[in-house]
Amino acid sequence: MTELLTETVIQEPQRIRGLEMPWNRVMGSAEAPARAARVLGPWHPQEFMAECVETIPEAGGMMTFVFRRCDGAPLAFRAGQYVNIAFPVNGEEHEPVDRSYSLSSSPTEPWTFSVTVKRDPGGLVSPWVHDNVRPGTVLDMLGPVGAFHLPDADRRARYLFLAAGAGITPIMSMLRTIHSLPGTANVVVLYHGAEAGGFAFDRELAYIASVDSRVKVFYALGDRGRPEEWEGFSGRLSSAMIEEVAPDANGRQVYACGPEGYLNTATELLKKVGVDDTSIYMEFFSGDRKTLLEYQAEIALASDIAEEIAEEIADSAEDYYESQPAAFGLYEPGYDADGTLEASGLPLEVVEPEAPSTEAAKGGSEADSAAPSPDASSFDTVGTGSLTLSFMRTGINVRIDPEEHILGAAQRAGVRIGANCKEGMCGSCKVVKLSGEVEMNHQGGIRKREIDAGKFLPCCSTAQTDLVIDA
Ligand code: FES
Repeated sequence: MTELLTETVIQEPQRIRGLEMPWNRVMGSAEAPARAARVLGPWHPQEFMAECVETIPEAGGMMTFVFRRCDGAPLAFRAGQYVNIAFPVNGEEHEPVDRSYSLSSSPTEPWTFSVTVKRDPGGLVSPWVHDNVRPGTVLDMLGPVGAFHLPDADRRARYLFLAAGAGITPIMSMLRTIHSLPGTANVVVLYHGAEAGGFAFDRELAYIASVDSRVKVFYALGDRGRPEEWEGFSGRLSSAMIEEVAPDANGRQVYACGPEGYLNTATELLKKVGVDDTSIYMEFFSGDRKTLLEYQAEIALASDIAEEIAEEIADSAEDYYESQPAAFGLYEPGYDADGTLEASGLPLEVVEPEAPSTEAAKGGSEADSAAPSPDASSFDTVGTGSLTLSFMRTGINVRIDPEEHILGAAQRAGVRIGANCKEGMCGSCKVVKLSGEVEMNHQGGIRKREIDAGKFLPCCSTAQTDLVIDA
């Protein structure tokens, strides 16, 4: 039986005027932004490690690599920016080779992010990336970098996106971003490819264009022969082609990305159709020496900024965790030698939150301070050794020798202390020493002011005297 579908008229969605990125209000607010918004503010390049979680083959010899940051943080960036990645193409024992790749995912889904890499058979890095980066591969990254991105707010969001070949990747990020946001926008994409089956993301582009009335996508096949059934444009970019897809090109912000020759042509043609220089933004996917030097300078600057703010970020994260009531039992990330957040992905022993005492439940801090301190001399004592460690929360005494690391002895006795690296690097075993002396050989997992406040890392410390520990 054939079912007849009657055509239903669906109204256009009602939208706010223009396009505004979710973080824009945060950037404009005079008050300190909320924590989540601050985390997502795309202000600073950072150095971080990221783990590949998925690989997606794309048409045109491209592959999308989906990553998540190893420290669990979202990646804040603007649609169109790129990351600089260190690839150990010559093995882990040799210097890695850096390459920059545009982010192809949308910053509105920041918990994972993607780069899309075209395999250049004669290249050093891209074949290695295609053959070796797999789910589980961890790489060092720096980012986000780059001034080629959508504005944070645009009251008259009218865009012309020109992409050739792998130049589609930052454009894809922009398109995904616009599609994911409310707001009136008008987007025309003109995408040049070398062969009919070689347009990366073509199914998603077709889908977006079919469900989002703000978006139109056109394809062009360059100057190669076109198959009979080809319905797109053919031939190189021309002013006639631009005027056909976007007769109002001079009223649009134009974002163009592709090889140098394509972009040089685009510059000329855009002038010809009346687009003002100030409305043109370009990202070169291949370029002359000058362009490459400019990118190098951009990455060097990003690296300096990343270094400067690493300490700041670590401090603010640390203050945050310190300000949380211990009873929440929040996982506290560690800090590496540079002060940046670090999570190694190794199994972490979780500190079990203590059951609130009757006194504390009644009256908060006053009740706490009024509670009598337990007497360590009444605790059970385990182990042998010349010194005594008293764990006040656990209620146990552990005998230990002066050369023994405190963490091991504590764990053997069943004292729950979160630990990760066990080398004084990550800071996850940090505890407060209530009395006594330790010798600590840490590797950046603790700060001076924390040591001054009586904290220490039991994984890399030995006891010099009897100790009383808040654990
Ligand atoms: S376990 Fe990493 S610093 Fe102690």
